[in-house]
Amino acid sequence: MKHTDIIEIFKDGSYIDKSVTVCGWVRTSRDSKNMAFLELNDGTSLKHLQIVIDKAVISDPSEYLKLGASLKVCGTVVKSVVAKDNVEINATEITVLGVCPAEYPLQKKRHTLEYLRTIPALRVRTNTFNAVFRVRSVISACIHEFFQSRNYCYIHTPLITASDCEGAGEMFKVTTIGYSNEYKTEDEYNENDFFGRRAALSVSGQLEGEVAAMAFGKIYTFGPSFRAEKSNTPRHVAEFWHVEPEVAFAELPDIIEIAEDLIKHIINTVLDKCSEELKFFDAHFEKGLIEKLKSVAENDFAVMTYTEAIEKLKQSGEKFQYPVEWGLDLMTEHERYISEVICKKPVFLTDYPKEIKSFYMKQNPDGKTVAATDLLVPGVGEIIGCSEREADLDKLLEAMKIRGMNLEDYNDYLSLRKFGSVPHSGFGLGLERIIMYVTGIQNIRDVILYPRTVGSIS
Ligand code: 4AD
Ligand code: MG
Repeated sequence: MKHTDIIEIFKDGSYIDKSVTVCGWVRTSRDSKNMAFLELNDGTSLKHLQIVIDKAVISDPSEYLKLGASLKVCGTVVKSVVAKDNVEINATEITVLGVCPAEYPLQKKRHTLEYLRTIPALRVRTNTFNAVFRVRSVISACIHEFFQSRNYCYIHTPLITASDCEGAGEMFKVTTIGYSNEYKTEDEYNENDFFGRRAALSVSGQLEGEVAAMAFGKIYTFGPSFRAEKSNTPRHVAEFWHVEPEVAFAELPDIIEIAEDLIKHIINTVLDKCSEELKFFDAHFEKGLIEKLKSVAENDFAVMTYTEAIEKLKQSGEKFQYPVEWGLDLMTEHERYISEVICKKPVFLTDYPKEIKSFYMKQNPDGKTVAATDLLVPGVGEIIGCSEREADLDKLLEAMKIRGMNLEDYNDYLSLRKFGSVPHSGFGLGLERIIMYVTGIQNIRDVILYPRTVGSIS
């Protein structure tokens, strides 16, 4: 069906006085004696296109005016009578492609995000989700652009794996054996399963990413990761999109620089390409959002050690729900306090106690901490988990044994430390978390098409 994207008609004045065909869904409508008006949206722009219907030209427009109906409209582009910097279409012919009955749920102007979650197939047709998913698309493309223009190789790491990268036991099992009491032991069950051994959905592409980095130097993966975390919070989903660069010959300060550059690149791109969407989020979701993003893009991020942060949290006099003690993991309330109150900007928290972090992180000479960092941002908390990797085989083996890990599951990974091991570092950025930060949307369920969370799949 030949037609023009609505965004193109808005872009410049070149369509004025021309005949065009547009397609889309009716978003608002108004009827009067001789004239009728409707606003059409085809998803290519946040702004709707006004269609002016002269009833002398098009009789009985009642079906065209139903919210949610899909139309094909032919007409002439003219300057708007009301807003001179805008354009509209004087319709000459309208075809209803799909009628829409009055039970269409999006009749009201504004619905709560909670209600919209109950209609995932339709919520994407609202202004909020139109803006969220355009920003999501622009961010995804600019992440590729960032790495591609810096000599990184894009690697597709497997989603089904036999090894647990984070060692936190939060993997979804992959099995073709349904309910069965045929097997006496777990080993016997696994041996009879599809792969002949335990398999799961990957929580991170890092381990295979390290394999590729030892060949290509600089790589990144960008795909879904899966976590069976039972935490029902506004920032956890069971299936999220994970950006993971892995860089050979990079130590912790090098990877921190890369992470900061990536975040700034994302923010600058969204400021540049999604100005309409950001104005919308600034008005409806986070006052001052655009100023915040400009300031983040222009200033250095803070860097602070975990140890210093614990001292500052203790001195703050703030009452936290969870205890603050050296050696304990930080909870979201602590992470947000550090970035929102103590630093007032994004902060790389470094050198965490080794017991609360993963086996693969480089052990610091103090014997107590690892060369790891989390990027914490105001409003969201952790958006990046990052570290220099332990390149020393003996130290790595020791860390794995302490954690009771099955070394056989990690043969490939361990072999990297035997054959030309190099200092290297990497990080994981949660795509949904950076979208939350850039849009001001506070619940992760509202930045992904179909959120999968504990107890909920639709
Ligand atoms: O800090 P994490 O667990 O780090 C890793 O997985 C490393 N293997 C990454 C690496 O070094 N290559 O996860 C990284 C990021 C988090 O900071 C967060 O942004 C996101 O992934 N993330 C989640 N996002 C949404 N829902 C969840 N359940 C998430 N778990 C992690
Ligand atoms: Mg983490």
